Amino acid sequence: MMGHLLVYIMVSIFVTISYSPPQLPVYFVAPGASTTLGPLASHPLGSFWNLQLEESALWNRLQHIWDRHHNPILRGNSTAGGITRLERDVSSECGTDQCWLSFHPNFNALSEKMRAFIKAMHRREYPFYINPPRVCVGNKDTETETPMLIMAIKSQVGNFENRQAIRDTWGRSGWVRGEQGGGVGLVRTVFLLGRQDPTIGPHPDLGGLLMLESQKHGDILQWNFKDTFFNLTMKDLLFWQWLQNHCPGAQFVFKGDDDVFVRTGALLDYLHKQKEEAAMWRTDRNNTDQIEDFIVGDVILNAMPNRQPNTKYYIPESFYKGAYPPYAGGGGVVYSGALAMRLRQVSERVRLFPIDDVYLGMCLHRLGIAPIHHPGFYTFDLPETEREKSCAYSSVLLVHKRSPKEMLQLWKQLQDPPSPC
Ligand SMILES: *[C@@H]1O[C@H](CO)[C@@H](O)[C@H](O)[C@H]1NC(C)=O
Ligand SMILES: *[C@@H]1O[C@H](CO)[C@@H](O)[C@H](O)[C@H]1NC(C)=O
Ligand SMILES: *[C@@H]1O[C@H](CO)[C@@H](O)[C@H](O)[C@H]1NC(C)=O
Repeated sequence: MMGHLLVYIMVSIFVTISYSPPQLPVYFVAPGASTTLGPLASHPLGSFWNLQLEESALWNRLQHIWDRHHNPILRGNSTAGGITRLERDVSSECGTDQCWLSFHPNFNALSEKMRAFIKAMHRREYPFYINPPRVCVGNKDTETETPMLIMAIKSQVGNFENRQAIRDTWGRSGWVRGEQGGGVGLVRTVFLLGRQDPTIGPHPDLGGLLMLESQKHGDILQWNFKDTFFNLTMKDLLFWQWLQNHCPGAQFVFKGDDDVFVRTGALLDYLHKQKEEAAMWRTDRNNTDQIEDFIVGDVILNAMPNRQPNTKYYIPESFYKGAYPPYAGGGGVVYSGALAMRLRQVSERVRLFPIDDVYLGMCLHRLGIAPIHHPGFYTFDLPETEREKSCAYSSVLLVHKRSPKEMLQLWKQLQDPPSPC
């Protein structure tokens, strides 16, 4: 025992006297500090962040430039200042395919839609075609409050029937009562549209009809960009902008497709409960109505990019490398209005990505927010054996996919449940 103690003391003394702090070169000097004062406190030589760059993937390279631009710690000494050639080519319109070739070697081998995406990926502003006033405040005197829930539904010009079915059922604007007889909530619905895509075959010009629809219902937001799958991310960016300008007080946002069915009453119950729980934990009693970083949906973890050419979600390795961050399936997702404002801000630092729900995940990742998974979001539909059961929908908040006709049937069915489930 004494022997052990002796060895311990010897070793301690030896370590103490033999230690001398390593001499570190001075890389960074805080403003105002003087270098004549001798070496500064020790600091790590390597970077804390992973600085590895996937040179061969365009998105990764472009994001790398922005990350360095916005974060002086990441920037280090090497790329300080100056705008790279790649950045210049992407942010200005690279006129010829030759120019694109110069920084994406197999540009010509990419699919038509990938090329279209890359050519337009620097653009984030598109003017409105249709921007109705008073969507948020409503026209009735009883509905002048800011909404509890804004339903922003991705639609396309031709989908008149889907929109009308949604207005008649789960997307009805106005005061909506929770299913459990809980609180009521003011709901507003808007549809997010681009311009008809002329490349998917000739179709009749429906612009006039859409204008009529907009005059009648005042719930159409349409922007001047081509309504393609790879342009869906623009609907998020432009909607967040609209929300900030026209409806900043909205407490929650639902964003989803026009071929889903939502149990709006049950969703309101769920959101009321979230608010109560958030209020319980809050110390700042002044702000009882806002819930900060909240997002819920059908969360997909550890997804890898689809590498099957000729599929809808195909992303070539020359465009993006790495796993996708956790994200909520784009069929329908709910988040707080406060988070929408933060997403709008952080999106200025995240390069556009052709798949909208993955892009949302990328923005969340940068904010350090994890989406909450809720089993009631059936973005891949109910199991087939369950669908016909009378109580099948009692646990559903959202289900994909339902035709306009099915929406009406389901809605009717849910108004008078046959027996308690
Ligand atoms: C940083 O850049 C300056 C100027 O280019 C150079 O003189 C200096 O040696 C660089 N420092 C490091 C640590 O690379
Ligand atoms: C997105 O819309 C813009 C503007 O209409 C268009 O130039 C671009 O090609 C579209 N992108 C895709 C991938 O379709
Ligand atoms: C809460 O409101 C009161 C009165 O309006 C104000 O004096 C106080 O600073 C507020 N507290 C916080 C934490 O914002």
